[in-house]
Amino acid sequence: MNSLPLGDQVMDLFDTFDRPLRSLRLSVTDRCNLRCKYCMPEEEYTWLPRETLLTFEEIHTLVGIFTECGVDKIRVTGGEPLLRRDLPTLIRMLAKNPRIKDIAITTNGVLLEEQAQSLYGAGLHRITVSLDTLKPERFKALTRRETFHRVLAGIDAVGKVGFTGLKLDTVAMKGFNEDELVDLIEFGKTVNAEVRFIEYMDVGGANDWSMDKVLSRAEILLLLRKWYGPIEPVIENSSAPAQRFILPNGTTFGIIPSTTTPFCATCDRSRLTADGLWYLCLYAKQGIDLRDSLRMGVLDEVRARILAGWQGRTDRGAEERKDLEQFSMRERFIEIEKLRQDPHLEMHARGG
Ligand code: GTP
Ligand code: 5AD
Ligand code: SF4
Repeated sequence: MNSLPLGDQVMDLFDTFDRPLRSLRLSVTDRCNLRCKYCMPEEEYTWLPRETLLTFEEIHTLVGIFTECGVDKIRVTGGEPLLRRDLPTLIRMLAKNPRIKDIAITTNGVLLEEQAQSLYGAGLHRITVSLDTLKPERFKALTRRETFHRVLAGIDAVGKVGFTGLKLDTVAMKGFNEDELVDLIEFGKTVNAEVRFIEYMDVGGANDWSMDKVLSRAEILLLLRKWYGPIEPVIENSSAPAQRFILPNGTTFGIIPSTTTPFCATCDRSRLTADGLWYLCLYAKQGIDLRDSLRMGVLDEVRARILAGWQGRTDRGAEERKDLEQFSMRERFIEIEKLRQDPHLEMHARGG
């Protein structure tokens, strides 16, 4: 039964579809040093006002309350999280919370080489790096920046400083990188990483999105079978969005088919923006403000908002997007004017 958490006790909170609150994606900045077309295709962006950004102390307090409510898995995101000054200090603070079983980060890798060692020392458990291509000129076309060599150096540093469990996330897009899937899997082997192909999603900010650019799970498997032969699913019980597969040579890889096969039914994740709004779904249009009560020092109100928010959660955003297909109504999610009015709607504000 759901009730207010008491002291040391951890409670299990369930939403209206009986989904537990477990994974919190913590965006520590909305800024980014790349401009990936699938996320930040525009030239100009409206940034969150600086004075609204939560301090490390504030984040730590909020995360403490979340962990009393069942959260045991934290993923630090952005924008690009390594742009947040002194990030290892925050990681060190979070790592002291014994209720957190897993602290990971999703980064574009550009600043990883210089920070990998201190992140490891601070107690970070795992790193996922976004890597959509192995071709420098494609990287430049996708991200509008020339820092590909730094991403490779960052990936290289991860294993050197002692991390295990590296993942490489590739957004698979037709007309962009479908000819690189095999090369990416092979590259992953050389750096001890599992590669995961993500279906291109129609999230806020993805203004260039259209269904015909989505390389689906079925198409990805077809392309890979041509090269490797039969591919088997890995049978496991997991709430992770990735479905894992094994090649005849024993190499594993993942596919995150959020666009064609949403995982809303088991989604235990929510998102906190860098300025303290709590979103119950990647596609949610409204967030729950936790910053004002936090700054007023009324932590019971923060707790009450988390409880009421999760217990009332009805979100199944990716499934609703998919439902639109039967009416041929699946187009870009949010108009650019609306994104400019509310930057929270952007994927780069709520964490990729
Ligand atoms: P681990 O299993 O802990 O390694 O993390 P993860 O599988 O959640 O990976 P990660 O957080 O890197 O997410 C991978 C990708 O899944 C993201 O970049 C998104 O494309 C997609 N994804 C993440 N969160 C959501 C979500 O809330 N809803 C949907 N539909 N897709 C998501
Ligand atoms: N579709 C799929 N994944 C996306 N990401 C950002 N935008 C999209 C999108 N439109 C994910 C990518 C990237 C991470 C930071 O966010 O996985 O690696
Ligand atoms: Fe690319 Fe991530 Fe930056 Fe978005 S936040 S532009 S996905 S690197």
